[in-house]
Amino acid sequence: MEFNEKTISINLGTKIFGQRIFFFKSIRSTMDYAKRIAERDEPEGTVVIADYQSHGRGRFGRVWKANPGENILMSIILRPKIPLEKFSIFPFLSAVAVAESIEKNIGVKVTTKWPNDLLINGKKFCGILMEASITVEKGDFVILGIGINVNQSEFPRELQDHATSLYLSTGKIYDRAEIVKDILRQFEIEYENLNKDNDFKSVLERWKKRCEMLGKEIKLIQSGKVITGKAVDVDDMGFLLLEDDNSRIVKLSSGDVTVLK
Ligand code: BTN
Repeated sequence: MEFNEKTISINLGTKIFGQRIFFFKSIRSTMDYAKRIAERDEPEGTVVIADYQSHGRGRFGRVWKANPGENILMSIILRPKIPLEKFSIFPFLSAVAVAESIEKNIGVKVTTKWPNDLLINGKKFCGILMEASITVEKGDFVILGIGINVNQSEFPRELQDHATSLYLSTGKIYDRAEIVKDILRQFEIEYENLNKDNDFKSVLERWKKRCEMLGKEIKLIQSGKVITGKAVDVDDMGFLLLEDDNSRIVKLSSGDVTVLK
């Protein structure tokens, strides 16, 4: 099963997403490359994808480790037409697109974890990272990074309890080009709908339906500070509403969540 720009392009059928693909056997991070080419006018929908990243990164500057030749590591360029303060919808939109595509094609139940994780049986198989660049001359752009553990069969010991892959969840090896194609198709549908109707609610509602941590007691770590309480809701801007131990509602923009019970 070959994985490169050609196998991803065949029968892709999208209008925007994946019309231009930059594929690398090895790269530092698809985020950096996508940012560089977005700065020199590469159009919306351009995808940077790699078989391996030497400096893949996750949220909070963490390392995103993925074995070579087994996973999906991609960044997508967006040139949004919506106001800057609404860009927070994009990680949710990506999560919904990936979840629906994986569930349909792989037949596993996919759940969401605030802010940007996708899980199978409570273990993370996909992480999403958004980086926005706000410039007056070149216009605003967004780079959405999506890392999906596909055929990886082993994880380092410290991740084993928290990480999984499609292979570990189903026992099957997958054609990554087919998975990427369907995600790009689904992404395009979601993105076009958002631009047409400005319907942020539908994206968030579908995200929330998949979110098993809502209503549960959680522990959240934000910049070294620990907060515990009940995860009540996610608001229209994507903030987590947490009812703390003094029954106050706290609004949170980011953090690391552990579900307690
Ligand atoms: C997270 O869960 O912390 C987000 C992980 C995002 C990883 C992807 S892999 C493709 C893209 N390039 C990177 O360096 N990071 C993102």
